[in-house]
Amino acid sequence: MFYNRSFEIDPSTEALFKGDMKEQGRKLMQMITAAVNGLNDLVVPAVQDLGRRHGGYGVRDEHYGSVASALLWTLEQGLGEDFTPEVKTAWTETYMLLAGVMKDAAKKLEKAA
Ligand code: HEM
Repeated sequence: MFYNRSFEIDPSTEALFKGDMKEQGRKLMQMITAAVNGLNDLVVPAVQDLGRRHGGYGVRDEHYGSVASALLWTLEQGLGEDFTPEVKTAWTETYMLLAGVMKDAAKKLEKAA
C-alpha cells in the first residue's frame, strides 16, 4: 500500500525501484523495526542518563511539574494562536514521556546508592 501510494503521489519515484517489490516491502519493514528498536536501544538510555544527571543537579520529582507549566506557558506566549489544542497535547505528552523516563532513572539510581 505504501509504495503504491508513493507512486501515485509522485510517479517519478516508481522508476527508482528496479528490484522485486515484495523484497522491497520486507526491507521497509526491517527499516521500521530498526527505527523502533533504535528508540528503545539508543534514545531511552540517553534520556535515562539525562535523568540521572538531573538527580545530580539536585532536581527532584516535583520540579518536573513546575518546569512543565513554565514550558507550556512559554510556548503559548510564543506561538499565540498556533498553540492549538493538538500542539499543546503533543508538547504535554512528549514532556511527560521524557520526564517519566528521567524520573524513573533518577529514582533507581537513588535506590541503588
Ligand atoms: C523533560 C524534561 C527535561 C529535559 C529534556 C531537560 C534537558 C536538559 C539538558 C539537555 C541539559 C544539559 C545538561 C545535560 O545534558 O545534563 C539540562 C540541564 C539542566 N536542567 Fe534540565 N531538562 C529537563 C527538566 C528539568 C527540570 C524539571 C529541572 C528543574 C529545575 C531542570 C534543571 C536543569 C539544571 C539545573 C541543569 C543544569 C544547568 C547547569 O548548571 O548547566 N531540568 N537539562
